[in-house]
Amino acid sequence: MLGRLNHVAIAVPDLAAGIAVYQNTLGAKVSAPQDEPDHGVRVVFVELPNTKIELLEPLGEGSPIAGFLEKNPAGGIHHICYEVDDIIAARDHLQAQGARVLGDGEPKIGAHKKPVLFLHPKDLCGTLVELEQA
Ligand code: CO
Repeated sequence: MLGRLNHVAIAVPDLAAGIAVYQNTLGAKVSAPQDEPDHGVRVVFVELPNTKIELLEPLGEGSPIAGFLEKNPAGGIHHICYEVDDIIAARDHLQAQGARVLGDGEPKIGAHKKPVLFLHPKDLCGTLVELEQA
C-alpha cells in the first residue's frame, strides 16, 4: 500500500531562521514560503535528490503545530508523509486495521494540491503519519 517517502516535516518556531539553516548551513535548495490556512501552517519545501523536507511554522490562532512547539521549543520532526496510489482505499484499509484517522476522516487538499490525511501517532509507532495521494 505504501509508496515513496514524500517528505519529512520539521516544525520550527521561526520559518526564516529554519530557511537560513537549510539554505546557508546545509546548502540546500528551499522553495518560496506558502501559507496553508486550512492546515494552520506556513511551509517551505527543501528539495533533496530523493525526497523533500517540509519546514512548518504556525499560521494563525489554534495552529495544529502550536502544542508541538510548546513541547519542543527549538523545533523537531513533526510528521512523515508517505505516498499512496488511492487515498480512500488506503484510509479504509487502515481504519479496518484499527488505525485512527484525524479530523473528520475525509481527505483535505495539502501543500502539493493533492488529497492528504493524517493518522494518529499512537496507532503508528509513535509517529504522526500523513498520507498523500500520489
Ligand atoms: Co506534510
